[in-house]
Amino acid sequence: MANKPWGGRFDAPTDKSVEEFTTSLPFDVRLYTQDISCSMAHARMLGKVGLVPISDVEKIVAGLAQIEKDIEAGEFPFAPGDEDIHMAVERVLTDRIGEPGARLHTGRSRNDQVATDLRLWAKEQIGELGNDILAFQQTLVTRAKEHLSDPPTVLPGYTHLQRAMPVPLAHHLLAYFWMLERDKGRLLDCLLRMDESPLGSAALAGSGLPLDREMTAVALGFSRVSENSLDAVSDRDFVIELLSALSVMIMHLSRLADETITWASSEFKYISLPDAYATGSSMMPQKKNPDIAELVRGKTGRVFGSLMGLLTTLKGLPLAYNRDLQEDKEGLFDAVDTLRASLSVMTGLFSAVIFNSEVMKAAVSDDDLYATDIMEYLVAKGVPLRSAHHAVGGLVKTASDKGVGLSQLTPDEYQAASESFADDIGDYFSAQHSVASKNIMGSSGIAAVKQQLEHAEAAIDMSGSGDSSA
Ligand code: ARG
Repeated sequence: MANKPWGGRFDAPTDKSVEEFTTSLPFDVRLYTQDISCSMAHARMLGKVGLVPISDVEKIVAGLAQIEKDIEAGEFPFAPGDEDIHMAVERVLTDRIGEPGARLHTGRSRNDQVATDLRLWAKEQIGELGNDILAFQQTLVTRAKEHLSDPPTVLPGYTHLQRAMPVPLAHHLLAYFWMLERDKGRLLDCLLRMDESPLGSAALAGSGLPLDREMTAVALGFSRVSENSLDAVSDRDFVIELLSALSVMIMHLSRLADETITWASSEFKYISLPDAYATGSSMMPQKKNPDIAELVRGKTGRVFGSLMGLLTTLKGLPLAYNRDLQEDKEGLFDAVDTLRASLSVMTGLFSAVIFNSEVMKAAVSDDDLYATDIMEYLVAKGVPLRSAHHAVGGLVKTASDKGVGLSQLTPDEYQAASESFADDIGDYFSAQHSVASKNIMGSSGIAAVKQQLEHAEAAIDMSGSGDSSA
């Protein structure tokens, strides 16, 4: 009994458990728009090359347009045996318009169809992700700008999570701006590589029919047609590249999320979470928790997992199409959804987060943060770097032994460490003094950060016009 479009050589119907096991409809239904566009382009091409009468093409295109509306309205008659979105659309089309519907699949296989649909979907989502990233970058720029005005907000910069040197908050926020800028670059980079049409590759070997591949590629917005039919239907490196770009991106978001959690802790208190972007505890009435940031950090695992999953699925697959490839979709959909949602909540959180500049100010009153500036003071006076390092190291030890700050040591103690110290050393124990000095390109000095901010603004203007610097 032929209960399937491919059922000609079968006598018995598919077992129900097999239908359940093999169907991709529950997830590939998301490709319906791309599938319908792809079928319309294919049908028009079949009409143009004379493989299908134009009157049939018109019926096919109108039927597909109606199917798209029905799916959108939730009125599409999906049937239990539908193997995937491609089969479901073709079945209903043929039920509705008869013979013209049965001509649609001419010169085509689901193998080139699904490879085309998924590329179209990925290209579109890269555009959306680009906009999501841009919104977050704009928020970071706005907040950075706000904290560069007089006096700029300064906090300790850390290495090894130990206080190291004072840095403007703007510099810290803009660090994430540039990570996101590269993330956008990675997306555009893989977009350019995936931008080719597999349509016309058919099942694996191409087609003996006079298909016009250029025509469908142009209609679908691809910049070129693929070179090799075996490759086009069976590789999913474009999905892997996108997953890997998404993995890098969520790794960046996870680092920011982790800092958010630390900064919101009672130990740091550098930020206060806005009510709308925090959650409470069902037991402990005092709690205001950074669950958003924790979930972003936590969801990093599933995105990395999708990347590893698909790499493993592809490893060792012989050419060309194998059903294993159907496993390409869920991880990709999930990773894209995860990144889009994470970018959106992090944008909301960062547009409203309260930076506690007074707490940060208190933290930068730690004298040790200025040890490097004091060392450079000596270097500027001609003391060799290693001698200066040793001298200031000695001062740090003396201060620590005495249980005082570096700034409280006496002029004599400074003189004993190095004769190059003069009275002006007292000026160096100031965050504003410290950040005023570091003004070579890319540094944390206020003038340098202002310049950096201008570059950041220019970079996103460029991205906004679709002409990214990346
Ligand atoms: N649902 C399948 C997938 O997503 C479509 C291609 C099926 N092709 C086949 N020859 N069984 O990969």
